Amino acid sequence: MHHLLTLEDLDRATITRLLDRAERYRADGAPRDLLAGRTVLTLFFEPSTRTRTSFVLAAKRLGADNVNFDLSRSSTSKGESLLDTLHTLEAMGLDALVVRHNENGMPAYLAQHARSDVAVINAGDGTHAHPTQGLLDALTIRQRRTDFEDLRIVICGDIRHSRVAHSDVQALRTLGSRDIRLCAPRAMLPESLQAFPGCATTEDFDGALAGADVVIMLRIQKERMADAQLPDAADYHAHYGLDTRRLALAKPDCQVLHPGPINRGIEISPAVADGPQSRILDQVANGVVTRMAVLAELLATPA
Ligand code: NCD
Repeated sequence: MHHLLTLEDLDRATITRLLDRAERYRADGAPRDLLAGRTVLTLFFEPSTRTRTSFVLAAKRLGADNVNFDLSRSSTSKGESLLDTLHTLEAMGLDALVVRHNENGMPAYLAQHARSDVAVINAGDGTHAHPTQGLLDALTIRQRRTDFEDLRIVICGDIRHSRVAHSDVQALRTLGSRDIRLCAPRAMLPESLQAFPGCATTEDFDGALAGADVVIMLRIQKERMADAQLPDAADYHAHYGLDTRRLALAKPDCQVLHPGPINRGIEISPAVADGPQSRILDQVANGVVTRMAVLAELLATPA
């Protein structure tokens, strides 16, 4: 593994190795100096709370230097091209570039043009992929259930515009899941199932929840939609909001995940988000160790 751009090409053994490493870091801590002398640059062209902060913490907890690139003060705002910015930063001695961008494929484009000793990590590109989120969601589920092949998993919300849904499905299928139901109003279901092989789609959330072991809720990606496409919030909550009545349709131990940021009262009620089945804050904690595992895998030179 040289870059991490999508989970598409990772096999089960590689995903398992990354999750095992993340789990080990969570249980026992990590070697503080594993990445001493290495430099990780975080370059975010879209807003982020969890992803950026957890990459910064992950780099620091392994002893790497972190530079958080401040786009509002950088020369990209003076019109410097992204490739000029990349080569400028490389010249300062860069080992990994963590990039989030609103255009699909931008991390892959940077990876193509980066120096061969620079690893590029996709921290979310447009509607395409969010590989570390896919990994940390799989880790969160695996902490309670290791029998992926037996799980009924529901992913509900704006699947069409969700890079998280793409990466979650890739991780979960590679780990053996076969019963994945994508649930949304028609306008938010994927136009094609090409990126979701083997998944079923439905507009009926109550029906999808029956017997579910895991439900992953997603935010409506307003920034990727025209205003006319936006549903009415109350109407959306009535049909697709996860509240305690609906959650009772799932298995009693059904885990509730959400990548955040959550919109309380729209896709999820506060009682569920803060309730005993919620794994949302576990996902946040797992985000740090998962990103540590990815950085270690890409940057640590074998002893
Ligand atoms: C997600 C993202 O940015 O794709 N958030 C995250 O990384 N935790 C999902 C979202 O923005 O809804």
